[in-house]
Amino acid sequence: MQNQQVLIDSLPDGKLSASNYRIVDTPAPEPGDGQVLVQTMAVAITAGTRAGLQGSASYAGAPQAGRVMNASGVGEVLASNASGFKVGDRVTAPTGWQQLSVHNVEQLELIDPGHDPLHYLGPLGINGLTAYFGLLEVGQPKADETVMISAAAGSVGHMVGQIAKLQKTKVVGVCSSLAKGEVLMSNLGFDAVVNYRDANFRADLKQATPEGVDVYFDNTGGMILGSALFRLNVGGRIACCGVVSQYDTAQPEPGPRGIPGLLVNKRITMRGFLVFDFAEHYARARKQIHGWLNSGEMTSLTDQIAGLEQAPEAFVDLLAGGNVGTRVITLDR
Ligand SMILES: NC(=O)c1ccc[n+]([C@@H]2O[C@H](COP(=O)([O-])OP(=O)(O)OC[C@H]3O[C@@H](n4cnc5c(N)ncnc54)[C@H](OP(=O)(O)O)[C@@H]3O)[C@@H](O)[C@H]2O)c1
Repeated sequence: MQNQQVLIDSLPDGKLSASNYRIVDTPAPEPGDGQVLVQTMAVAITAGTRAGLQGSASYAGAPQAGRVMNASGVGEVLASNASGFKVGDRVTAPTGWQQLSVHNVEQLELIDPGHDPLHYLGPLGINGLTAYFGLLEVGQPKADETVMISAAAGSVGHMVGQIAKLQKTKVVGVCSSLAKGEVLMSNLGFDAVVNYRDANFRADLKQATPEGVDVYFDNTGGMILGSALFRLNVGGRIACCGVVSQYDTAQPEPGPRGIPGLLVNKRITMRGFLVFDFAEHYARARKQIHGWLNSGEMTSLTDQIAGLEQAPEAFVDLLAGGNVGTRVITLDR
């Protein structure tokens, strides 16, 4: 049995390109004592892994060519030398971009047979938990406040908006097109959406937030963060989740002007977080998110592409804004 893998062939010098990857076939790995062999069903394509390639994600370690591209995945147990996992079980695992992978049990989590495995790459996975804790614990929105979200049509963003609506807030999304905005407003209940690529962005943002912004969930940094700072109300909170506007380059821009002056004058709290900070509370969050999915109060948008060999192009396209919701690559089995 062969194992198709997508390797990082070279580290990007500037914008990421599909040619930074190479596809190889290697012999299937064998699980050792206490280990489990997993066949990948699907992997998530996520913006944060671009920060890992840039070397700006401290938790990811130094970027390195020649290894399998990292990714969260869901899969099926093909062989098990570990108690608690049997052939046919569905699991989450850091599979990376490959068909087969071997894991110690600490890396695995069983998927409840009643759950859609793809939800573990979206609302019940890292990005859903990021949306949940970043908004509720860091942003701390209150009813009737205004919540602004950048990369609002992406995986984290579209879930933040829905969780914010469940807190009875007014939700304003920022994204790159009217078509994306239409999905957010018509299907997910966002109150307004502003296109950051439009020349009138700042004026449009002002119009969409007549009462200012109380919580800004920042997925992008850059110019959108700079604009949000001027809309924040006294006592506003900024949940710094990520900086996707500065990942796909070798020369990230400096932070926006107005810091710390605006923070001082408006008593704004700006707090960075990593979802792993909340690991001990994942079970509670998943239970609530699962309830919202079941009741129809939350919709998971999945942007599905078939074939592992499509992963490099799909990643480049995600960084250019080609996705709506959580992008996943499904694998033939
Ligand atoms: N703190 C944590 O623990 C944690 C955990 C997971 C993810 N994150 C962060 O969450 C953010 C979203 O990640 P994701 O996986 O959900 O990705 P995503 O939002 O599904 O995809 C990235 C989106 O970023 C937008 N984008 C790309 N370049 C941009 C630019 N120059 N300016 C503004 N928007 C741009 C694109 O949407 P448009 O079409 O709107 O441009 C694209 O769809 C990232 O910053 C990631 O690092 C943080």
